[in-house]
Amino acid sequence: MKKIAVAGTGYVGLVAGVCFAEMGHSVTCVDIDEEKVNLMRSGVSPIFEDRLEELMQKNYAAGRIEYTTDYASAYEEADAIFIGVGTPEQPDGSANLSYIATVARQIAESVVKDCLVVVKSTVPVGTNDKVEQFISDFLVNDVRVEVASNPEFLAQGSAVKDTLYAERIIIGTESTWAEELLTELYQPFNLPIVSVNRRSAEMIKYASNDFLALKISYMNDIANLCELVGADVQDVAKGMSFDDRIGSKFLNAGIGYGGSCFPKDTKALEHIAQQHGYDLRTVKAAINVNTDQKTMLYKKARNRLITFNGLKVAVLGLTFKPGTDDLREAASLENVPLLLEQGADVYAFDPVGAENFARVHPEGQHGRGSITYVASVEEALQDANVCFIFTEWGEVKAVTPAMYKNLMRTSLVYDGRNIYPVADMQAVGVEYHSIGRQAVEREVKASVTSHV
Ligand code: UDX
Repeated sequence: MKKIAVAGTGYVGLVAGVCFAEMGHSVTCVDIDEEKVNLMRSGVSPIFEDRLEELMQKNYAAGRIEYTTDYASAYEEADAIFIGVGTPEQPDGSANLSYIATVARQIAESVVKDCLVVVKSTVPVGTNDKVEQFISDFLVNDVRVEVASNPEFLAQGSAVKDTLYAERIIIGTESTWAEELLTELYQPFNLPIVSVNRRSAEMIKYASNDFLALKISYMNDIANLCELVGADVQDVAKGMSFDDRIGSKFLNAGIGYGGSCFPKDTKALEHIAQQHGYDLRTVKAAINVNTDQKTMLYKKARNRLITFNGLKVAVLGLTFKPGTDDLREAASLENVPLLLEQGADVYAFDPVGAENFARVHPEGQHGRGSITYVASVEEALQDANVCFIFTEWGEVKAVTPAMYKNLMRTSLVYDGRNIYPVADMQAVGVEYHSIGRQAVEREVKASVTSHV
């Protein structure tokens, strides 16, 4: 059992802290936000994540996890300090490292015994060399402090599972002491450990995320071509997936990738390459395809309808994927403002993301358009002229083709997640546009009338 401190209680830090506690270590999570710390002490998770709250309560009751704003006392006695603070994207695509620098300085001023600083945050290659130097510059006591890289690969919605049962643990160290200590900390997880040097570990994180982003953008590119040549991208993906070298995951064409990692990490790696005078063409292509993909359906709909002015538009799903309340880089954030600008009356449904969305786009009038948040898909669809599907929530997948036909004024559906078999929509007479599949067109009468 080791004493672990964790800096930052966002997705990365809190999940890591709770999982280390679950594995028997003694963990103190540090955050600057007093209110958040009190909330966590009372057993409430600040983020929506499967099993997290349950494990927070269990390990708190067992005395294995504590939360504090007092970083000095947490860092002082720790064998290892994990850093999980954010590295937000800056306007030029580079990562903002100021939170890491703040924590590094606090560590340097607090530690009184040898300790390993483990950076979990995604940082540009070479950053951890600088963090180690920075800590040694500010170190107050005569102790050994080394920095290791230990990137995480958790996906939102399954973060606890992804940590406890990770496919691999990447540890990047520069000494046997650091390698052995980190290996010992992870020993109770009983998972495959890949031990490399620090820069390779930093690179593995970017290379993995960007590869997945590339895979999605590739399928979106192929999807757009499928539409033009009369192929069906889902059938194409199925055929490809039988090849083990390709695999079956992350082949779903759609409205582009969002979230806190893929958009940020693709731009960051491109930026790193640029700094080294290298043109990282593949990643650049993935970014470009994704940018266009997000508004693909909106553009199709605008061409079809000419204007959204005065139309009731149902929006199903706002978050970047189901199972999270996170809106970062979600397609809805690009499309809803375009619809509002065009004078649409948007009726938006999302089982958990609506509150966050309403902070950016409050309910009510926005210029010529308006937005209303509704509690059910039925309310969104009732008398709507057009429907956009942005997130494949269970509640959205439960809507039958007949419901679009019966509830909407004009059943015109733009599906960014390819939820329905095209033939099912065709069978009930819904005009249906999706990604990389043939559209079901309807005879256009003077049918798209305002709902007002
Ligand atoms: C991702 C990685 O999966 C994780 O390993 C990494 O550490 C952080 O980034 P996350 O962003 O939570 O996790 O979600 P993920 O499930 O990977 O989806 C990201 C985006 O890609 C979503 O917008 C999703 O809708 C989209 N996506 C995913 C597709 O469009 N098609 C696919 O086939 C898969």
